[in-house]
Parts: sequence; structure tokens; C-alpha cells
Amino acid sequence: MVDCADPPVLLRDVLADVDDAVRLLEAQAPYTPLGGWYNPGADPHARTRPMWFQNDWVHDDFAADGSDLFLRHEAYIEAAKVFYDAEVIEPKSVYVNLMAAIAEGGPAHTDNPRFHGRDRTNTPMWLLRSMLWSGLFERHEITQATAIWWLSDVEGGGLRYWADGPDRAPREHVGAMANTALIGDNHRMFHQVAPMAAAGEATRLVSPSAELAPVGDATGDWAVTDHGEMVHRAPLDAYRVSVLWKADVYPTEADRVARQADNLTMIAVAATFDADLVERGLGLRLDLERLDDPELKAAFWATYAEPKPVGALRSVFEALA
Ligand SMILES: [Fe+2]
Repeated sequence: MVDCADPPVLLRDVLADVDDAVRLLEAQAPYTPLGGWYNPGADPHARTRPMWFQNDWVHDDFAADGSDLFLRHEAYIEAAKVFYDAEVIEPKSVYVNLMAAIAEGGPAHTDNPRFHGRDRTNTPMWLLRSMLWSGLFERHEITQATAIWWLSDVEGGGLRYWADGPDRAPREHVGAMANTALIGDNHRMFHQVAPMAAAGEATRLVSPSAELAPVGDATGDWAVTDHGEMVHRAPLDAYRVSVLWKADVYPTEADRVARQADNLTMIAVAATFDADLVERGLGLRLDLERLDDPELKAAFWATYAEPKPVGALRSVFEALA
């Protein structure tokens, strides 16, 4: 079992000029629905997805023009140093979520872990998550700070977060969210997007090829177009727009150098799990030939169980399943 994180810190007046973010949003349009991880192989023409759009602004080998506005934000870097009592903060990624008309919550979750030598490019996500919740790989885990910034105050759409641990009621940041950011440890603290829809409004679905972009007229409205049909139109500040920033955290430069030189192999992952399973008197082993086997995943998830946060709202993806 891993420790829960300290409560996140709220930063206000994050950007000196919010229009800088609006220009970045416009320049990076159009936006496409969140990936098909929950319904792979779905019919690309069927309206199966909520209006939850996402784009990367900074990842491994890409950085959108102007994304340093968030990536190199000094208040983020300073806040992360204080939060973790750390000297080295390496900003890694920035991505944006745009949402509209979602009557259920997002999933209550912690963000996906990374380890030195093991991440989603070479290791199944179920195994990375088992590694996290086992607590057996903390020496190799990459500490990641997260900041979430909001463009505007929308109807609902708060962030619920289990700052007191998954077995205590969540807190919520809602209402005056415009140009604020929460910075903390979203890899250990459960969190969930609250519903954002008008009273009585159901979740509106679009196809995977729908696009969200500025209409391009004098109104400044943004619209969702699906197979040539405009299916939703609203001012940008009526969408729930959040920008996520992630940075790797190291207590000292010497620690960074040592950790980055110590990459975990799959053989070592299996050996560590197997030793722990022997100690627990269990017959389960991490058979590296069976990483695609759903039964192996289920057995590991049962053994190294992820907490279920109390009071989580039903997620839109559960509702659609
Ligand atoms: Fe998250």
C-alpha cells in the first residue's frame, strides 16, 4: 500500500494574460475526442463518445509554439519544489482537455505511473499500475508533479479530489476556477471531474472523428462538427477547458543522476514480484510470456489491489459501457 499524498496547493492569477492561453488554444485547434482506450475497435461513425476533447501541447518530441507559457511556468516550478521539498523539477508534458455537456463524472482515478526503464512504451499499463500499488518499486518510480489550470468558471465541472485519502470524503474545487491551478500529486491522490451539464441535460455523444474548433466568425464561438454537421456551438468560456502540466521531480541533482542511470528491466520486475508472492505464500507468478492474458492481469489486480475512493460519482465511461 502506498502513502496518500499531501493536499494540493491552489495557485491564483496563474497567467498574467489569459488571452495568451486563448491564442494557444486557437492555434492548436481542431481538437479530437479522447482516445479509444475504453472502446477499442468501435465503429468510427457511431456517436459513442462524450464531448471530451484532448490534445497534447508538449510531449516527448513535440512542443506547440507558445506552450512554454505553461511548460516553463515559474510559479509551477517553485510550487513543485516546495510541495516535494525538491531541488530538481524537469517539466515534461502539457496537454489540454475541453469538455461540454457531460452529465456524469469523469473516472475517479490516479494518473498513470512511470518508472525508470518501464513506462507505457514498453510495459502494459495494468502491470505499471500493479507496480505502483504494490509499493515494491518506489526506488524506481518517477515522482511526477501535476498542475491543472482552468480557463473559466463553468456550470459544474469542478475537480473532486481525495486529499485526505481514498477512504475519506473528497474535497472539491468548483466555482471560482478561472485562471487558478491546483498543483500536487495526482499520481497518488485520486481525483475526478464533476459533471458539467445544464440541469436535466443528458450527456451528448459524438463520433470519434468529431472536431472542436473556433467557428471563425466575429462571435468567438467554438463549435463541434461531426461528419460535416455542427452539433454543438457555444462561447469558448462555456466549455470546461483545463491545461495539465507534468514534471519529473528529484530531491537533488545527485539523486536525479543516480536514478536516471538505474533502469528497471522486465526480468527484475518479475523477480521482485515473484519474491514478494513467495513471501505471501501465494502461487501466483509474473509469467512474462502471459502479459497479454487477462487472467494474469486480473490475478495481479486482485493481489495488489488499487483502493476504491469512497463517494466517487459514476463515470461517463461506465455509463456508456
Ligand atoms: Fe488525472
